[in-house]
Amino acid sequence: MDQRLFFPATQRNKKDIGDVLSKILLKKGSILEIGSGSGEHAIEFQKRFPGIIWQTSDPELIHRKSISSWIDYEELNRKMPAPLGIDVRVCPWEISSELRDSLQGIISINMIHIASWECTKSLFKESGKLLNNGQFLMIYGPFKIGNKHISQSNELFDKTLKLQNKNWGVRNLEKVSAEAFKNDLIREELIKMPSNNLALIYRKFISI
Ligand SMILES: C[S@@+](CC[C@H](N)C(=O)[O-])C[C@H]1O[C@@H](n2cnc3c(N)ncnc32)[C@H](O)[C@@H]1O
Repeated sequence: MDQRLFFPATQRNKKDIGDVLSKILLKKGSILEIGSGSGEHAIEFQKRFPGIIWQTSDPELIHRKSISSWIDYEELNRKMPAPLGIDVRVCPWEISSELRDSLQGIISINMIHIASWECTKSLFKESGKLLNNGQFLMIYGPFKIGNKHISQSNELFDKTLKLQNKNWGVRNLEKVSAEAFKNDLIREELIKMPSNNLALIYRKFISI
């Protein structure tokens, strides 16, 4: 049964996010994606970066079904593993030693504003533990800078999110980066993306 979901924002942003990834991905290894949603990003990136193994995850069954359905539809079963049911808050994340050993980075797109602040904290805490020195965590989405919205549309979006769930909301860049720093992840790059979004690259860095 075809259980693919279609997220319009994902279709719009996948090319630009892929362009950012093209500059940081190594040719081989695995990427762990947190909050993969429909799976449309995963399919796009798996096809664009064939040397990589793209490991999806999502706590929602309907999303995992969509991801599996996209993998079937694109005939990527032999390449892509089945989605994991990772909920960032449930630590440690259950991942295989094979994935841990081949991991080159972690990615989470449009997740942290549609989840409680606890999820941001867990994302950085577990990423800090899983990543080796020099490996990256990339997050993408809308952010406030200096606790101020960078556009009226982001401000409106923030209000809409908070109406849906008081624990959701557009996060403040400095607070997010401080959380990263606590877990040995240093912000390496801030890339302005279309529609007032940012791509943030954090690198694991432990001083000796
Ligand atoms: C707006 S969707 C974005 C999906 C996808 N990354 C994209 O950009 O199309 C937010 C995703 O975060 C996931 N999510 C929410 N809470 C989460 C949590 N505690 N742990 C992991 N993922 C979570 C949701 O299930 C959903 O798939």
